[in-house]
Amino acid sequence: MSQAWSPESWRSKPIQQQPQYPDAAHLQQVEKTLAGYPPLVFAGEARELRRQFAEVTQGRAFLLQGGDCAESFAEFSTLKIRDTFKVLLQMAIVMTFAAGCPVVKVGRMAGQFAKPRSANDETIDGVTLPAYRGDIVNGIGFDAASRVPDPERLLQAYHQSTASLNLLRAFAQGGFADVHQVHQWNLDFIANSALSEKYQQLANRIDETLAFMRAVGMDSAPQLREVSFFTAHEALLLNYEQAFVRRDSLTGGWYDCSAHMLWIGDRTRQLDGAHVEFLRGVGNPIGVKVGPSMDPDELIRLIDILNPDNDPGRLNLIVRMGADKVEAHFPRLLRKVQGEGRQVLWSSDPMHGNTIKASSGYKTRDFAQILSEVKQFFAVHQAEGTYAGGIHIEMTGQNVTECIGGARPITEAGLSDRYHTHCDPRMNADQSLELAFMIAETLKQVRR
Ligand code: PEP
Ligand code: CO
Repeated sequence: MSQAWSPESWRSKPIQQQPQYPDAAHLQQVEKTLAGYPPLVFAGEARELRRQFAEVTQGRAFLLQGGDCAESFAEFSTLKIRDTFKVLLQMAIVMTFAAGCPVVKVGRMAGQFAKPRSANDETIDGVTLPAYRGDIVNGIGFDAASRVPDPERLLQAYHQSTASLNLLRAFAQGGFADVHQVHQWNLDFIANSALSEKYQQLANRIDETLAFMRAVGMDSAPQLREVSFFTAHEALLLNYEQAFVRRDSLTGGWYDCSAHMLWIGDRTRQLDGAHVEFLRGVGNPIGVKVGPSMDPDELIRLIDILNPDNDPGRLNLIVRMGADKVEAHFPRLLRKVQGEGRQVLWSSDPMHGNTIKASSGYKTRDFAQILSEVKQFFAVHQAEGTYAGGIHIEMTGQNVTECIGGARPITEAGLSDRYHTHCDPRMNADQSLELAFMIAETLKQVRR
């Protein structure tokens, strides 16, 4: 490379997946307002996440990234944030305790609003309207007024994100995430499931360990009382993201302070496109989704643009092939990156390659396919002698029926019971815990 980067240099590049705002002046005025508002995160926090990513890349920790496919204005509530946070804590403690592995915790939360779509329009009963692109852009209701992109939504997304992040920070540091509360993280509605039973047994063992540590005067470490929790979202709506680019007063570097980590979606990762241009210039840890259409040489070029210094904490490649495509596409990418000596954090998104349509019309995912993709991801790494560093999942603490299968199986007929997602189907708490136990077992073996 490269031409000079600036917070607005993305504007001269080809761009995909953007809304058409009818009132450009209104959008500009909102961008200006946002640019004057306080940032959501600080550069120092983003650097701390980079440090933790480097630990993962080097095989000393595991990355757990999860949350809604799309946050929404309608589903904004304390209890929903709390319950998703609880399940992430449960998953993390299962992996930490059962596999002896530190877990880096990142929520798809407090800013995950903008959605790429496979088609620009949606047609129902002969009526065609612009597609829903997430609450930060337009409304999900199927009527012409809802689907008009409205810049005011950027402000609402910002305010909801600040409130969500404020609550998450309080949960992480104010006593809720204290490991002595490990029993309290269990959600009532999974109380009688096999997974809940398994979790209670693990929690009992943690209790015993804590009692022992207390007895020998070793339970005062602050790490037992609070957790580090980070936020991430897809940096899709660049008008919004640019408003949060701030210069760090300590290092002079640019950071996108709308979240600790940002990622580029599988549909917007063009080498010469606006999204790659935008994220190459900010100092946050960043992710890129890697789907079946990625070519090994293209991947190397992408890595060179996004991580020219080959920094182990900078880049997370989030592999999302689909359970039936991992074998065909992933090993050659992994070999190429490994062979070229590039240091990246490899994680598995077992959701986005496994979306299917149920006979009833619901968009769903089969939990067996999700498990299968994660297992194959680990197996490929094991065969190549590389480290499977993390997972990236869509899940919620609500008792939803959106993905079929699992230990307390959801059937196709049962999908309609509690199908609430604003975009893709999420795992519920039972399914998320089941996945966590499977990963803990695997991690235990690969880490010896
Ligand atoms: C997502 O993570 O919600 C998403 C749209 O993923 P992908 O870019 O991998 O399709
Ligand atoms: Co999704």
